Amino acid sequence: MEKGKVELGDLSCASCHTRVMADGTTIKGAQGNFPFDRNFASGIRDDLAHDPENARKFGGPIEMSLYGAPWREDNPQGALLTMPVQETAAVHEGIPPGVMARGGTSPFYPVQVPDIIGVKDRRYLDRTGRTAQRPTPSRATNSGLISRPTIRRH
Ligand code: HEC
Repeated sequence: MEKGKVELGDLSCASCHTRVMADGTTIKGAQGNFPFDRNFASGIRDDLAHDPENARKFGGPIEMSLYGAPWREDNPQGALLTMPVQETAAVHEGIPPGVMARGGTSPFYPVQVPDIIGVKDRRYLDRTGRTAQRPTPSRATNSGLISRPTIRRH
């Protein structure tokens, strides 16, 4: 990152944890309303038109690595392995802004993007309660959670 250089992306903390209000103002740390899954779906559809091989990777393997619970016989996300990639895009398109299929959850059961205002006083991180806050909470702690694959029992 270079100071003063504007870059376009959708994976910064601010993309998900900033709320854009109707009048165009923003509230940092409020419940985000970026349409993350619709943007994800539009990427799949764009690939389908221009790079179908890459689009197919989004069906099955990538969806499973983010959301699958392959150790379960009745893998709740099993349909993601076999559905046509157009349907995978449709599942993500059905997720409205304010909730999202985060790694470790599911596009069938997306989680709410929480506000992080006053987060230092919360005992458990993630609304789903999967992570206890350490004594010295830091931005790095949560970055690690995001960049490392997490396994959750469904
Ligand atoms: C792609 C969207 C997205 C990005 C990017 C993102 N987050 Fe989040 N964040 C979420 C979602 C969704 C949850 C709730 C997860 C859950 O409930 O399991 C969450 C949870 C959190 C929480 C826990 C809040 C609580 O009380 O539950 C913190 C803190 C947090 N994020 C900080 C960050 C930081 C710092 C970054 C950048 C390093 C970041 N997030 C990037 C979507 C995102």
